[in-house]
Amino acid sequence: MSILLTGRFDAGERDEWLTLLRAALPAETLVLEADEGVDIAIVANPPRGALQGLPKLALIQSLWAGVDKLLADDSIPAQVPIARMVDPAMNEAMAETALWAVLSLQRDFFDYARQQAALQWRPHPQRRADELPVLVLGRGQMGATVARRLAVNGFPVTAWGSRDGALAPHLAAAAVVINLLPLTPATRGIVDAAALAAMRPGASLVNLARGAHVVDDALLAALDAGHLRHAVLDVFHQEPLPSEHRFWSHPRVTLLPHVAAATDARSAAAVAAANVKRLRAGAPLADLVDRARGY
Ligand code: GLV
Repeated sequence: MSILLTGRFDAGERDEWLTLLRAALPAETLVLEADEGVDIAIVANPPRGALQGLPKLALIQSLWAGVDKLLADDSIPAQVPIARMVDPAMNEAMAETALWAVLSLQRDFFDYARQQAALQWRPHPQRRADELPVLVLGRGQMGATVARRLAVNGFPVTAWGSRDGALAPHLAAAAVVINLLPLTPATRGIVDAAALAAMRPGASLVNLARGAHVVDDALLAALDAGHLRHAVLDVFHQEPLPSEHRFWSHPRVTLLPHVAAATDARSAAAVAAANVKRLRAGAPLADLVDRARGY
C-alpha cells in the first residue's frame, strides 16, 4: 500500500508537502508516480485523468477546498470517497482577503489607487462600517469564518446558502456581495444578469469562489452601466486570465491571481494525515464530499 501525492504544484511546494506528510505519517510510503500499490491519493487540483489505473484506490484526499474539478473528472470511479480540504488556516486567509476587499470598498481605497495613478488629490466622504451591509453567499466553514471576521469589524453581515430559498430578495439589501459558494450544477452561473439586476445600485461584488459562478458578460454589462460600483475577482473561467480579457483593464475591477486563500501546507498536511489514519484504522472519514450534492 502506498500514498500517491500528485497535482499542480511546483517542485518546491511538492517537496514541502512531502516533508510534512512524511513527518505526519512515518509508517506510510509516499510516491510521486502512480503504481498498482497506491490506495490513497493526496491531490492538489490534479489534471483530468491523473488518477486512472489505480485499482486499489480507497481514498482521494484533496488539498484544495473546492473539489469541482475532481467531481468533473469522469475517469475517477464513482465509489472512491473524496475528502475535501477543510483547513482552519485557509479559512482565516480567506477572511483576511474578504476583509481587505470590504474595507477597501467602505473607505474607497480602490478609488484612491486609481486616483494616485492619475495624480488626483480628491478626498471622498468617510463612511462607517455599519453603513455597509454585506451578504455572504455560502454557509460553509469559509463563509462562516468570513462572516464572523466582518461582523467583528462592525459590518452588518447576513448569509445565504443554497437551502435558504431564492437568492434575489437577499441581494437587494447588500452593499457588498461576497461569493464563497461551492461550484456545483446548482450554483454554476448563479451570478447572472438577473442576480446582478437584483443587487442594489452602487453595490459591489467580491468573487472569491470560482469563476464559473459568474456570467462574465453580465458582470461587465452591470459594471459598464454603472449599476455595480466595483468587482473584486480572484477566480476566473479560465486561469490564468487571458491577457485580452476586459477584466484586466476595467476601471471598476480589482483582480487577484487566485490567491485569496491558498491551502496552508503546515496545517493542511495534518488534516490530510488525520484522514489517512482514519482510513487505516477503519474509522469514519472526515470532510467527505457528497457527490450528488456536488461538494
Ligand atoms: C482553491 O481555490 C481551493 O479550492 O482550495
